[in-house]
Amino acid sequence: MTVGSKMSGAVLTAGVCVASQAFLAPVSRQAPRSTQFAEAADVPRPQGLQGASTQNAACWGLWGTAAGIGSLALRTQRAAKKGPRMQLQAEPRPFDGWAHCAQYKDEMLETVKALTMPGKGLLAMDESNGTCGLRLQSVGVENTEENRQKWRQTLLGTKDLGKYCGGAILFTETLYQKTTDGKSMVELAKENGIVPGIKVDTGLVDLVGGKDGEKWCRGLDDLKERTEDYYKAGARFAKWRTTVRVRDHSKLAVLEAAHGLARYANICQSSGLVPIIEPEILLDGEHSIEECAETFEETWSEVFKACADFGVQLEAVLLKPSMVTPGAQSGESADPATVASHTLRCLKRVVPPAVPGIMFLSGGQSEIEATVNLNAMNLQPNPWHISFSYARALQNTTLKTYAGKDENVVAAQAKLLIRAMANSKAQKGLYDPATADEDATAAEGMYVKDYAY
Ligand code: 13P
Repeated sequence: MTVGSKMSGAVLTAGVCVASQAFLAPVSRQAPRSTQFAEAADVPRPQGLQGASTQNAACWGLWGTAAGIGSLALRTQRAAKKGPRMQLQAEPRPFDGWAHCAQYKDEMLETVKALTMPGKGLLAMDESNGTCGLRLQSVGVENTEENRQKWRQTLLGTKDLGKYCGGAILFTETLYQKTTDGKSMVELAKENGIVPGIKVDTGLVDLVGGKDGEKWCRGLDDLKERTEDYYKAGARFAKWRTTVRVRDHSKLAVLEAAHGLARYANICQSSGLVPIIEPEILLDGEHSIEECAETFEETWSEVFKACADFGVQLEAVLLKPSMVTPGAQSGESADPATVASHTLRCLKRVVPPAVPGIMFLSGGQSEIEATVNLNAMNLQPNPWHISFSYARALQNTTLKTYAGKDENVVAAQAKLLIRAMANSKAQKGLYDPATADEDATAAEGMYVKDYAY
C-alpha cells in the first residue's frame, strides 16, 4: 500500500488547499512561521478558518505564500468590479483563537518556554500505581504507597535535575502526595526548577467497532473539573496518551485517537494546562520502517486536523510521539540516522511548525539507544525544539541502582543526573556515545509487548 493511499483525505488535499486558501485569504493575514517564528502566538486566525474543518492543519505552513498572492488577486478583482468600498467589507473581523483560555495565555506560553529551553526535556514519571508497582517489583520492592512515595521523591528530589528536565509528568497520587519529610511533591519539584505536569487520561479500553484488540483512551467526561483541580494543586501541563497500531488498524481507531487528543487539549488549555498530545504508534508488530512512517503521517495529520477543528492553540501544545522505527517483531533494525530521517520526514510533512516542542517517548528503547536517536534527530535542521520525555529510558539505571534501599538514594540520583545530562546533550546534537561513560544497564532494551501505563 502506498503512503498516499492510506493517508487522510485531508492530507491529500494539501495541494488543493494552497490554491483554495489563496482565494479565501484575508488581506491582513501574514505568514506566521516563515518570517516570525517567535511571534506566531500573537497572529490572529481569520474567522472564516477557525475550526477549519475541511482544511488540513498542514496547510498552515503554506498559508503565508498563498495568502500574499491570493489577497492581491482578491483585491484586484474586487477593485475592478465593485470599487474600494467593497474591499473594506471583505476585511474579516479578527478572531481570537485564545478566547477559550485567554486568562491563561501568558502563563501557558511561559510554561512552554520553560519546558523547551535549549538542552531541556521532560522526566516522565507518570506510570499508574500498577505499572510503577511492576517496575518496583522488578528490583524486589513491594508495591505499597510508601514505596512509591520514596521512589518518586528520589526522582523529583535529584538536585540540579531541573537544569536538564524542565518538567516532570506526575501520576495523580504524586501530585497530591507529600514527601517523607512532609513537603509536598509539587514543592519539591518546584524547588528543583521542575514544572509539575500531570497525566490526565484514565487509560485504554477496547474500542467497540474497531478491529480486534484495538483500544481507545478514556477520561474526557469529568476532564474539565479534574484539570481545574490539577491546576489548583500546582500542575501546569498535562499528558494524554492514546495508541494506534501500525498494521491492521481501523480508520475508527485513528479518528478516535485524534478526537480524544484534540478535545483533551482544548479542555486543558481552558484550565491553564499546556497539553502534551501523545498519539503513540505502537512498536509491536512485524512492520517495516516505511509502513510505520505511513501510520505516523496518517495519525498525526488527523490529530492536527482535529486540533484545528476544535480550536486548539498550537503555540501552547507539545507533541509527544514515538520514533519511526521498524516493528519490534520485524527482525529489522534501523540505525539512528535512518530513524531520524524517517521521523523528521513525517514530522515535516504533517506537524505544523507552530507546535513549539516535539518531546519523544522512549517506547522500550534502551537508555543509550533513546539518547543516540534523539541526538541524530538534532543533527538535522528542523523548526522545533526536539527533545525527550522519557520514562523507562531515564529511569532504568537509576531504579536498578536504587533497588528500594535508602542508602542507595544518593547514588541513584547521581545516575539520573548522568542520564538527564546525556539527553540534554542529545537535545543539542552533542552526545557522543564513544566518550560517554555508560553503565551496562543503559544498553538494556526495555520493550514490553502491549505495554500499559
Ligand atoms: P516511555 O519513555 O517509557 O515509553 O514512557 C513514555 C510515556 O509516555 C510516559 O509518560
